[in-house]
Amino acid sequence: MYNPLEIAANIFSVGCRDWDIRDFHGYSTYEGTTYNAYLIKDEKNVLIDTVKDEFADELLENIGKIMDPSEIDIVISNHTEMDHSGSIPKILHRIGEDTPLYCSKMGHKNLKSHFNRDYNYKVVQSGDELSIGKRTFSFLETKMLHWPDSMFSYLKEDAILFSSDAFGQHIASDAVYDDEIGDEVMSHAKKYYANILLAYSGRVQKLLQTVTDAGLKFNMICPDHGIIWRDDPSAIISAYDKWSRQEPSKKVVVIFDTMWKSTAKMAKAVAKGVEDENVSVRLMNTRKWHRSDIMTEVMDAGGIAVGSPTLNNGIFPVVADVLTYIKGLRPENKVAAAFGSYGWSGEAVKILNRELEQMKLDIIDEGLNVQYVPDKNNLEKCIDLGRKLGKKVTEIC
Ligand code: FEO
Repeated sequence: MYNPLEIAANIFSVGCRDWDIRDFHGYSTYEGTTYNAYLIKDEKNVLIDTVKDEFADELLENIGKIMDPSEIDIVISNHTEMDHSGSIPKILHRIGEDTPLYCSKMGHKNLKSHFNRDYNYKVVQSGDELSIGKRTFSFLETKMLHWPDSMFSYLKEDAILFSSDAFGQHIASDAVYDDEIGDEVMSHAKKYYANILLAYSGRVQKLLQTVTDAGLKFNMICPDHGIIWRDDPSAIISAYDKWSRQEPSKKVVVIFDTMWKSTAKMAKAVAKGVEDENVSVRLMNTRKWHRSDIMTEVMDAGGIAVGSPTLNNGIFPVVADVLTYIKGLRPENKVAAAFGSYGWSGEAVKILNRELEQMKLDIIDEGLNVQYVPDKNNLEKCIDLGRKLGKKVTEIC
């Protein structure tokens, strides 16, 4: 049970912690997550977002510690992905199915598709306001951050932003605020950005500009996952600015898999070459590292090297998994190269190059193909490839 907490006068965090989840649609959540929901007491009582459907009773119990749930006058759905909208039917069933349900235009479409119900939808767009008594909400659509329906709700008088998934982190802990968790939170926020928002970095830049132009101040940023930013909300804004610029750093990620350790030997030699150029390196075997952790390292790297043996005229399935995942998140500003061992047909490097091309990365070498086991000469070529990557990364950083 998560005791509801008054985070500002008459504003409560009423969501739930999910300590057990370890896979969030393909994203590794080693420390669980939270589904945050917020309750505002005013002349009109407002619930912002809900939780996964299996936590609906817990949400109602939390609300019940503050008011009878039937006293809720308005529900705002900032985002319709099921971890935030899944409990809407149960909540509305409890508080009244005619309760106004505020959402964006796409939110309306999605909620209708999800639940096949004609609720009392109130569609809002950027700039629309909603007075609830002493307070006023201002809505800001944040399309594709990270779904078409996503929006922010900003409580003007308190300067509190309810930001949906943006600025969130997948972590369940006793901490509620940034100042209670310390620096550790940034690594969770970085992983969240790399795996959920990176593909929409251009939109993040535009949104940050909109926020700056409007002169919006934030006493608190309350996301739908993880801790609330109250001590220094500007820290996460600055981090989003940096991550969304996709500026490369002096780091190369060597991503590989191996059958009989030949491609592993090549990977280590490539990594050695990178280090020879005083560039940081991460050696990540796709069967040892989760795709979402690899993605987090790739996000701010200046280069990637990808290695795979040839298997049945193709690349290793786990390497294909990771590349498909990385490609979808559209990392930019990186140099790249491929390598791999083979027995007789040797298609892997060609396929890897095609994948890297589709990612629009700068391929700096035709790639290294080695038959069976790399000898000293082959490993020297791998070291040279690593050095070449290291030099190029240094040039672009
Ligand atoms: Fe936390 Fe996009 O849902």
